[in-house]
Amino acid sequence: MEHTLVLVKPDGVRRNLCGTILARYEAKGLTISALKLMQVPRELAEKHYAEHAEKPFFGELVDFITSGPVLAMVLSGENAVAVVRQLNGATNPLEAVPGSIRGDFGLAINENVVHASDAVATAQREIALWFPEFTE
Ligand code: TYD
Ligand code: MG
Repeated sequence: MEHTLVLVKPDGVRRNLCGTILARYEAKGLTISALKLMQVPRELAEKHYAEHAEKPFFGELVDFITSGPVLAMVLSGENAVAVVRQLNGATNPLEAVPGSIRGDFGLAINENVVHASDAVATAQREIALWFPEFTE
């Protein structure tokens, strides 16, 4: 069983897309192992996106993810990391295929509706960050 960290970002929560997005993950066969709606402390946002700290968009990225509540979750299932990345679609909604979450609901790269861990090792780091109480 594999676990991955998923966020419905503030744009998705503001647009009332949580139910629609959760339904897609559940319909695919993934299990919701943890779930919470939360305001993101700036320190958590900076740790979460630490790999992008030197990028020109880092400040706006942290501003955006802290701009309103996110729905944070751990999704579990066989190949959960890769499966959720595929359901979410490409980072840039312009390149995300229709049928994917970003392809169907996103317009611009800076507000692309969802986040998901990009590898098993990343998922372990991100789950520890967002759900320190989580155990398998
Ligand atoms: P990244 O980790 O590359 O994408 P993903 O979310 O698919 O793992 O980037 C993290 C977030 O940073 C991305 O979801 C949206 C934002 N971002 C920008 O705002 N501008 C950019 O040019 C890139 C590459 C990402
Ligand atoms: Mg990423």
